[in-house]
Amino acid sequence: MRAGVFIVIEGLDGSGTTTQTAMLKDWFEGEGAVYGKCVATCEPTQGPAGSMARLALNHRLTLDSAAMALLFAADRADHVYKEDDGRQEPGVFHLLGRGQHVLSDRYLLSSLAYQSLDLPMEWVLEINARAIVPDLTVYIDIDPQVSRRRMQANRSHEDLFEGADTQARVRGQYEKAIALLRGRGHDIRRVAGDRPAAEVFQAIIVELLPLLRRRQED
Ligand code: TYD
Repeated sequence: MRAGVFIVIEGLDGSGTTTQTAMLKDWFEGEGAVYGKCVATCEPTQGPAGSMARLALNHRLTLDSAAMALLFAADRADHVYKEDDGRQEPGVFHLLGRGQHVLSDRYLLSSLAYQSLDLPMEWVLEINARAIVPDLTVYIDIDPQVSRRRMQANRSHEDLFEGADTQARVRGQYEKAIALLRGRGHDIRRVAGDRPAAEVFQAIIVELLPLLRRRQED
């Protein structure tokens, strides 16, 4: 069977990764159904390591930044490789092997951008060595000021990385991380996010369609 396509959506907090993932999932269930089935996932996941990472993001527990980086990497290993035991969705690797497309709201690039605020990016990459390479990563690029406005409008509290200054630094780290991963063969496309969700969505579809068509012809 033809392998599925692994698509990742990335960006600052408030860039709309969750909105775009949901819109793409809907598209795969309608107009895009001709290209095959798609499972939508996210990181941090609902699994044990991901749940602990969320507790730290919400300030309900405090973790050293290296421990946090390892937790995200552990969550990613689980996200990618967990077996289908009948109780949980199988990992990305297994889904792709079954010919299903997988769409993930955040993945490796998030770890490189956020965890490198306090740690060497190369080390973050090293602890994620087993993470499979996505077929396509779309980076939704927004101004940190837009990120701040959206955070203030939607959130009653501020998560660990949601401060405006932090977001400006994360954006700089995203740029470095994109260069690092592109150098290692990752296909990463940039889409402007400072516009209505429907326009961002169309821009993502433009990046995605050639890949889906190619895979259909293989
Ligand atoms: P987000 O994806 O916005 O989820 P929610 O909508 O539930 O807030 O937030 C997840 C946060 O976790 C975000 O600030 C980025 C951060 N993060 C990392 O620092 N490293 C990682 O590897 C991942 C996947 C996320």
